[in-house]
Amino acid sequence: MIKKLLVIIFFLHTFSIAAEGKDKEIVQLPEPQYDKGLTVGEALNIRRSVRSFSSKKLVLREVSELLWASSGKTFDGTTAASRTYPSAGGLHPLNVYLVTGGVEDIKDGIYKYESKDHTITLLKEGDYRKSLAQAGLGQSFIRIAPVCIIITALYNRTGMVYGERGTVRYIHMDAGHAAQNVCLMSASLGLGTVAVGAFIDEKVKNILGLEKEVPLYLLPVGHPSGK
Ligand SMILES: Cc1cc2nc3c(=O)[nH]c(=O)nc-3n(C[C@H](O)[C@H](O)[C@H](O)COP(=O)(O)O)c2cc1C
Repeated sequence: MIKKLLVIIFFLHTFSIAAEGKDKEIVQLPEPQYDKGLTVGEALNIRRSVRSFSSKKLVLREVSELLWASSGKTFDGTTAASRTYPSAGGLHPLNVYLVTGGVEDIKDGIYKYESKDHTITLLKEGDYRKSLAQAGLGQSFIRIAPVCIIITALYNRTGMVYGERGTVRYIHMDAGHAAQNVCLMSASLGLGTVAVGAFIDEKVKNILGLEKEVPLYLLPVGHPSGK
């Protein structure tokens, strides 16, 4: 009897996961182009914090490059696949979200980036930039920029291996690397961004619907105004 019950629970559980997956809206991003844009040196040299954006939308290709730079998969042709950012112990504890109110061909909403297949999954539809700007202590450029890339961390993943030192130190180093990648890719694409650390954690968590992850960085990206 118990065996039968367990089998039924197993099937119900599997069915509900499959049903959840079926309803999800997944956008395949264009292949990242590794051989376009500025050299690393040129991008480093022109990178500045940009806090003034035009209302011009981004195109999906730009979103693809930015998200790939944040934490996408890499393969140098010889060793195992890795990610665009170095990570203590190769644990890669970061997740990346996209809040958009201005990307051509996709719905406004909150998306989660999946590096394994270079896709974004729609979590919530709608323009959440205003709420995000409020969570960001009223920094109004967050509301104006067409997208905001949000880097979050799963503290347990690194903490379980490296303890408290790993949690407070390594994870923040990882996030710094990923954020700088976004800054450099923005510069290379002729876009602008600023790394924002001043926000109310709980508010950002509520907007994204996070439970275990902690938001570390907001990176609003767009066309610098006047360009
Ligand atoms: C950890 C961190 C947090 C930051 N938080 C904010 C922020 O909340 N708002 C903002 O406008 N700039 C923020 N900045 C951007 C800095 O103000 C900026 O990098 C600095 O003034 C140097 O200017 P530059 O980026 O143009 O070289 C932050 C930068 C870092 C590294």
